[in-house]
Amino acid sequence: APTVAQEDFLSLKDYSSEEILDLLNLAIELKKPENKHLPLLKGKVLGMIFEKSSTRTRVSFEAGMLQLGGHAMFLSSQDTQLGRGETIADTARVLSGYLDGLMIRTFHQSAVEELAEFSSIPVINGLTDDYHPCQVLADLMTLTEHFGELKGRKLAYIGDGNNMANSLMIGAAKVGLDIAIAAPKGYEPQAEMVDLAQAIAKDTGSVVTVTHDPVEAVKNSDAIYTDVWASMGQEAEAIKRLNDFAGFQVNAELVQHAKADYIFMHCLPAHREEEVTADILEGPHSVIFQEAENRLHAQKAVLVTLMGD
Ligand code: CP
Ligand code: NVA
Repeated sequence: APTVAQEDFLSLKDYSSEEILDLLNLAIELKKPENKHLPLLKGKVLGMIFEKSSTRTRVSFEAGMLQLGGHAMFLSSQDTQLGRGETIADTARVLSGYLDGLMIRTFHQSAVEELAEFSSIPVINGLTDDYHPCQVLADLMTLTEHFGELKGRKLAYIGDGNNMANSLMIGAAKVGLDIAIAAPKGYEPQAEMVDLAQAIAKDTGSVVTVTHDPVEAVKNSDAIYTDVWASMGQEAEAIKRLNDFAGFQVNAELVQHAKADYIFMHCLPAHREEEVTADILEGPHSVIFQEAENRLHAQKAVLVTLMGD
């Protein structure tokens, strides 16, 4: 397993380009059928705190821990004392006495940071309102499987300047992949996130751009990515967003501007005929289920790196 300077996996911004490439290489190794059951985390236990719903994250972490010889424990915030107001700081110190690692999916990035600060075990970010680093690691793995070297390739992200947009910008910048974000006015990624990604990109030679024109973003791209228009926690805005995101659908017309052998990506779950049409989602360029599978392999690489002996 690669050695990393970080104890936790909170955002890709904390990882160097080399560390990210090492994690990707390890993930590709662990994906080989003969390596599926390497007992690298024998007897170790991962706790998984969920304050939002999940299919992929929960199941891939749980399956991954079992395949590595360990165990994972689902901790719904509803059913633990967290839901009754026990603090994150107390929870962190209690759980550190039982577990070897903690994954958390929650709203505020600050909650993940607080958990990490008070835990004596590694903490992994399983999605916040700001970031989704596990997804992006799986996405970079998927891109690598398709294109090999990512330097000089271009990813277009069409839609909401949300957790996926932020993490994709940072991840792309770290590995030297160009990224163009197209978002409606008012839904651009926060300026500080764009500044951060552009600062990272300066060192790696990647180009990070933000536009309001989906065609401009997609032009000459190797991959097109989209995500839901209303994320978890934004359900009340869903109708308004349908209007505001008109013209930002990934459909047959838009993808014509990409390279002929482009791939279509989506973190899932998807809303058909909203952010993407069914023909694109199910079409020959779509790699959505490879991406979903790669969550397992990418996270096993993170688990082994942070929790292995
Ligand atoms: N992409 C993703 O994180 O999916 P889940 O919400 O199902 O975990
Ligand atoms: N942006 C979405 C991603 C889900 C994996 C959300 O936060 O709901």
